[in-house]
Amino acid sequence: MTMNVPVRDWRGRRVWLIGGSSGIGAALAEALHARGAEVALSARPSPRLDGLVERTSALAVPCDVTEHGALEGSAAVLREAWNGVDHVFYLAAHYVPMRGYELDLDQVRASVETNLLGAYASVAAALPLLEGRAGASLVLVASVAGYRGLPTAVAYGPTKAALINLAETLYLDLEPRGIGVHLVNPGFVRTPLTDRNDFAMPALIEPEDAAEGILAGLARGRFAIAFPRRFTAWMSLLRHLPDRLYFPLVHKATGL
Ligand SMILES: NC(=O)c1ccc[n+]([C@@H]2O[C@H](COP(=O)([O-])OP(=O)(O)OC[C@H]3O[C@@H](n4cnc5c(N)ncnc54)[C@H](OP(=O)(O)O)[C@@H]3O)[C@@H](O)[C@H]2O)c1
Repeated sequence: MTMNVPVRDWRGRRVWLIGGSSGIGAALAEALHARGAEVALSARPSPRLDGLVERTSALAVPCDVTEHGALEGSAAVLREAWNGVDHVFYLAAHYVPMRGYELDLDQVRASVETNLLGAYASVAAALPLLEGRAGASLVLVASVAGYRGLPTAVAYGPTKAALINLAETLYLDLEPRGIGVHLVNPGFVRTPLTDRNDFAMPALIEPEDAAEGILAGLARGRFAIAFPRRFTAWMSLLRHLPDRLYFPLVHKATGL
């Protein structure tokens, strides 16, 4: 079922990628630039961001999403330059694998501030730019790690579960006002974020494939976009298992 306005032609569309300097965001910047979109990129200042800005002829709006007001500053630059934005993607994330018996509260705080509060701040900064634009949409990148509790995900998982809920809530509130909302739940993608994983990641895909998966979902007007299906279909199934089956299965599958 089509739940948002499908986006098939990106020519001239103005797209703001927040957390767009590496991994999936960088692949999206390249894919969107190749399709004729105008791209704006936010991440913390770095040579990596500068290089991508140059390759994709993007507008650089560097900012730290955890700094109060930084996103408002970037939004002001975009309003001045473009007078509005058609699509905003939130991809910024902080990921540190952690077990429940070794809580590092500084890392937990960084996860919540980047993955969740940064998303709220981005939505608040972006809404005035999206309002009144035909076919406008907001894309939140969460994770299948937000479906249910997982070992080593004590800092990251709850932020992604909250993002899933946030996307659903925003869809209910914003879609009737003409702003579409998409929720993206990738499986494992080879990026700097997952480079720190010390286990064999099942069904691992490349960032370019993730970007194509996201754009294919948007072309269909989907609300929830999950890939690769060979992995996310299993995660969806686990989501609905009773607790007495889910917990032993996860122990067995992960060895943790
Ligand atoms: N890779 C996967 O397997 C996977 C699976 C499921 C979901 N995801 C999600 O997909 C999204 C993209 O992840 P990725 O794998 O592409 O990771 P990545 O390559 O590490 O990209 C994360 C991006 O967020 C930016 N960022 C981090 N902290 C920031 C901050 N405080 N302020 C501004 N920007 C910040 C990073 O730039 P700087 O650090 O330079 O600022 C970078 O551009 C994330 O939301 C992640 O949770 C990834």
